[in-house]
Amino acid sequence: MDMLQRPRRNRASATIRNMISETTVSAGNLVQPLFLVDGTDINNPIHSLPGMSQLSIDNLLREVESCLQLGLQSFMLFPAVDESLKDSEASYSHNPRNFYLNAIRRIKQEFPETCLISDVAMDPYSSDGHDGLVVDGKIDNDRSLPILAAMALAQCDAGIDILGPSDMMDGRVGYIREVLDDQGFTDIAIMSYTAKYASAFYGPFRDALDSAPKSGDKKTYQMDPANKREALREAALDIAEGADYLMVKPALHYLDVIQTLKENCHLPVAAYHVSGEFAMLKAAAQNGWLNYEQSLAETLIALRRAGADVIITYGAKDFAALKK
Ligand code: PBG
Repeated sequence: MDMLQRPRRNRASATIRNMISETTVSAGNLVQPLFLVDGTDINNPIHSLPGMSQLSIDNLLREVESCLQLGLQSFMLFPAVDESLKDSEASYSHNPRNFYLNAIRRIKQEFPETCLISDVAMDPYSSDGHDGLVVDGKIDNDRSLPILAAMALAQCDAGIDILGPSDMMDGRVGYIREVLDDQGFTDIAIMSYTAKYASAFYGPFRDALDSAPKSGDKKTYQMDPANKREALREAALDIAEGADYLMVKPALHYLDVIQTLKENCHLPVAAYHVSGEFAMLKAAAQNGWLNYEQSLAETLIALRRAGADVIITYGAKDFAALKK
């Protein structure tokens, strides 16, 4: 046998494999999404997202505390709003009595070391279930911007660390940045949903918030899954408008987009491993067809290998517990 190159020598033991491992995932890279509901002592399991619940603030504070004990410090918060509080202008989103804003205050009071990331979009508060303002059956981009900025400002007042505009309206990063800077919030960062695709994998999330569009779909603002160069166009705009992070969403089905943004831009790249992508793992595991822990770990490694600096995943706490 004349074989000078034997790659298996570099896989000979766990110690060697660890020594030359190119990619790592730690709890510090992960963001845990949490669903918040008004009231007390509420824990409503979300059936299409096993392990996740709608939590009232008392239970949410306990959940944050148990994540912190596992070394998980970053959270993305989503409100499940009662239908009676929704209107076409999403006015509850910047109402000072809004339970979501109060929850941000409470979490930052009790756990100042957390990093809280918001959702800036109209859909959880909109009677139309769209991320922007619906006027005569169409999304009115420019009239949506002041509403999104009012929501962002209210979140800054409440003490948010990073804003997460997920609405995909044109120009919203720059518009929000200017309003924030005018009001002295120059230190609040923007994690822009840069390449957010019109995806079937958001299904369980829309169940969780009861936020599906009442009519039509989101294809006039979320991107076509067929397009990659368009992600670079969106990234260039977000960078010019003052974004601090670029997000790709969904994650696992868009590894090439993550890699392209990482190679072409200098901002940190976040990948959102979305509800449907997570639910697939859980469903297969519940059937005994996959090992949940191993497939979650492999998924997160794949996202980091593609170039994600930050990963938002419903499995963050499970992964942190495994690592502990
Ligand atoms: C809405 C929003 C969505 C998600 C995050 N923010 C759903 C949508 O655009 O319809 C999806 C997250 C997930 O599926 O985990 N602004």
